[in-house]
Amino acid sequence: MTLASLSGQRIFLTGATGFIGAYFLRAAMAASHEIDALTRSKSNAASLEAVGATAIVGDLTDSKGTWREALRKADAVIHLAQPQTFGGRLTKSRAKQYSVRRVAMDRALFEAIDPARTRRIVYVAGTSYYGDCGSVICDEGATPHPRGWGPYLAPAIESLPGYVARGLPIVAAFPGWVYGPGSWFAQYVLEPLSNGKPVYGLRGRARYTSPVHVEDCGRAILHLTQHSEIGSRYFIVDDEPVPGEQLAKIAANTLGVTGHGRKLPFVLLKLLVGQVVADSLAYENRLSNSRLKSTGFAFDFPSCEQGVPHAVRTWLQEKSINKAEQQKCNAE
Ligand SMILES: NC(=O)c1ccc[n+]([C@@H]2O[C@H](COP(=O)([O-])OP(=O)(O)OC[C@H]3O[C@@H](n4cnc5c(N)ncnc54)[C@H](OP(=O)(O)O)[C@@H]3O)[C@@H](O)[C@H]2O)c1
Repeated sequence: MTLASLSGQRIFLTGATGFIGAYFLRAAMAASHEIDALTRSKSNAASLEAVGATAIVGDLTDSKGTWREALRKADAVIHLAQPQTFGGRLTKSRAKQYSVRRVAMDRALFEAIDPARTRRIVYVAGTSYYGDCGSVICDEGATPHPRGWGPYLAPAIESLPGYVARGLPIVAAFPGWVYGPGSWFAQYVLEPLSNGKPVYGLRGRARYTSPVHVEDCGRAILHLTQHSEIGSRYFIVDDEPVPGEQLAKIAANTLGVTGHGRKLPFVLLKLLVGQVVADSLAYENRLSNSRLKSTGFAFDFPSCEQGVPHAVRTWLQEKSINKAEQQKCNAE
């Protein structure tokens, strides 16, 4: 079977209930792929079934789990699952635990894949692995200088060539700052802005970063199952690197609020959000999407000027739907 003929793929998806996973799932279902979606929780399984996926209840840390049977039937595997990162202060010790668990989860997954059946494995990493790229635009061949989450992702990313050498058809996707109506963008930007609270940033010069709308991110990961070269890396970032604070400025304009940015010195920011998030704001990362575009991928939101207002409006709609549902439940 050639890659070009892989429409209607059977895809095994980890991290289906996460931020990016939900958008990947939407894109994959719309393109009529058959999805086996892994989750550890029975209640999450019901939500996955409700959108048409086949839920597989299991835990990647359980190397004998029955999830391995579905995995061995997959044409493509998308690996988005990661140990929990979200909420609370992200200290170095939490990040070290993350690093060890992530390597163990990857190993359990990779060892259970059948390379004779599976044609692509899209491994989702993060551009913090490349870290500080200075003021030039970098491509995937740049020397990594991991920052923020990067040092803790590095052991997992650096083990990938070994699995490729053993015959696994892995491509590595590196999304930049993935913004949308959830995850860090809701927690650190949209919630504070809409509650009249400050959005914290790092004092000093503007530092450029490479964002991408979560819908484009989900679609790009799906695209890579059919348009990618084994062993290659692909940045998933939009056309225009921007100063990190630009995302909050556009969000504030869309929400119709002003004057809520507060810039702190590193030491105070670190106390507030933890070392890992503070360090994520401390470096420059201007990345090129040329390789991804050369595979034929087209962005719906090529810049955050186009994408952030859409993300904010979606977040507001989802909030009002949740509120209405809550009121209905309370009334019953
Ligand atoms: N969010 C971003 O801005 C961003 C940016 C760049 C790169 N990335 C990368 O993209 C990937 C996905 O990120 P995300 O933010 O979408 O993830 P997320 O929201 O943190 O979701 C994590 C997912 O992992 C699953 N999971 C956790 N432990 C598991 C285990 N032991 N076995 C099976 N599943 C497990 C969870 O499923 P259940 O709880 O249902 O079991 C959940 O669906 C990660 O690799 C991340 O590093 C994210």
